[in-house]
Amino acid sequence: MYISKKQSWHIEPPWGLLNDPNGLIWYKGNYHVFFQWNRFAKDHSNKAWGWCVSSDFVHWQFRGSALLPDQPYDAQGVYSGSAMEINGRLCLYYTGNVKQNGCRTSSQCLAISEDGLHFQKQGPLITTPSGYTEHVRDPKVMAAPNGGYWMVLGAQQRNGFGAVLLYTSKDGFQWTPYGTVGLSQEYQMIECPDLFVLGEKKVLLYCPQYRDNATDSALNSFSAYKVLDDQPDAMPQQTDLDIDWQRLDEGFDFYAPQTFLTPDGRRVLLGWMSRMEGEEETAFAEKEPRVHCLTMPRELLLQGNRLCQRPVKELRQLSGTLVPANKTQVNESFYHLTTRAFRFTLENLDFCEHLCLTLHDGEWRFEYDVSSHQAQVCRRRWIDSGEDLRSIFLPELTGLELWCDQSSVELFLNNGEFVFSARICPTAAHPSLRAVGISGEISAQLMLLPENLYQYLPKEEETP
Ligand code: FRU
Repeated sequence: MYISKKQSWHIEPPWGLLNDPNGLIWYKGNYHVFFQWNRFAKDHSNKAWGWCVSSDFVHWQFRGSALLPDQPYDAQGVYSGSAMEINGRLCLYYTGNVKQNGCRTSSQCLAISEDGLHFQKQGPLITTPSGYTEHVRDPKVMAAPNGGYWMVLGAQQRNGFGAVLLYTSKDGFQWTPYGTVGLSQEYQMIECPDLFVLGEKKVLLYCPQYRDNATDSALNSFSAYKVLDDQPDAMPQQTDLDIDWQRLDEGFDFYAPQTFLTPDGRRVLLGWMSRMEGEEETAFAEKEPRVHCLTMPRELLLQGNRLCQRPVKELRQLSGTLVPANKTQVNESFYHLTTRAFRFTLENLDFCEHLCLTLHDGEWRFEYDVSSHQAQVCRRRWIDSGEDLRSIFLPELTGLELWCDQSSVELFLNNGEFVFSARICPTAAHPSLRAVGISGEISAQLMLLPENLYQYLPKEEETP
């Protein structure tokens, strides 16, 4: 029996391929989440901006595409970018990607909406500066602490190494190069940077990428962050991108995160929930109309120099059906589930010796061993019968939250101090959770989430 991978509460397109979240913003009463979308095929060509909206972070509506690759300056892709409200207008900044006869050109472009419904392209604002290859992309614009705007860009220098560029602007239209705020001598490219102030600190998110410069092809990449030493309201100082970074996510599937501010001042992050290699991606999507989804929205908080991620309170406050556990043995609980969309919480884990959570007969497993302080996640692979494994050293486990959808798991340890995100391939006919190592002092709760919080309302002309 084939089990569909269609998610019920994560953002994903009705068909085609999704990658990075783009243009996250609260505008005129709605959260707008755009994303890289190939609406024609489950591959990485033809990138447009797909679009969905929500007023509450819980119920989402898909609105089709907002920006198509239909101009000479973006014909081979409306690549990643960000959003900013300026004088009541919604400004979308993106990279126009052009490839002709194997030759790439990039420019940073603007599209404007007066109403949050219709978008007018304004053309390129920034072309590639000297000293850089055409790998300059992913403009992230923020309101500068003392007025005006800053834009960070991922880039590759002519010496073949990655950098983060900064531009400044008074009005969001005219941009002046400021210089580099991050340099690498290890990675050949930096993608999707984000810069923001959280509390009293500046934080830089970025995706270091190894590339084979001889063939101009991507090798592998991951999502990192650095808490900077600068004063929050001063111009950013140059930072070494190769040292003192931390991983944003310890799991298998997480990349290209972007953050934005909610009207009540929370810094919220969404990421692309994939790091699949080509073969894995093809196999995962084989019987599906679509491939890939975004992560759930997560609020960011700083604890010292550690970025913690917590599911937004709107999702935490959702009420659903509580599922009682069957005690199969002392210390062992078994939950029969009627859906794969649920949330499981454990508190007071200080009392546990060895904890093991197994989802759906072994599609995914988490283990924590108190004596070795190892926290480990295993996921069954779908291209062969093996398992993928990720582990971290965790001195103490105090609590955890597991947020599951039809084909994904997001695990938050110690109030979001560490997160493991993963897509899983559903194979078990009867979804279940087995929890071993839960003694009487530990409090456990399993709640089913309402189904189909995410709705597709595609425009007719976008039917494939
Ligand atoms: C990151 C990325 C971005 C680019 C986009 C294209 O996943 O490579 O750098 O803008 O995807 O889809």
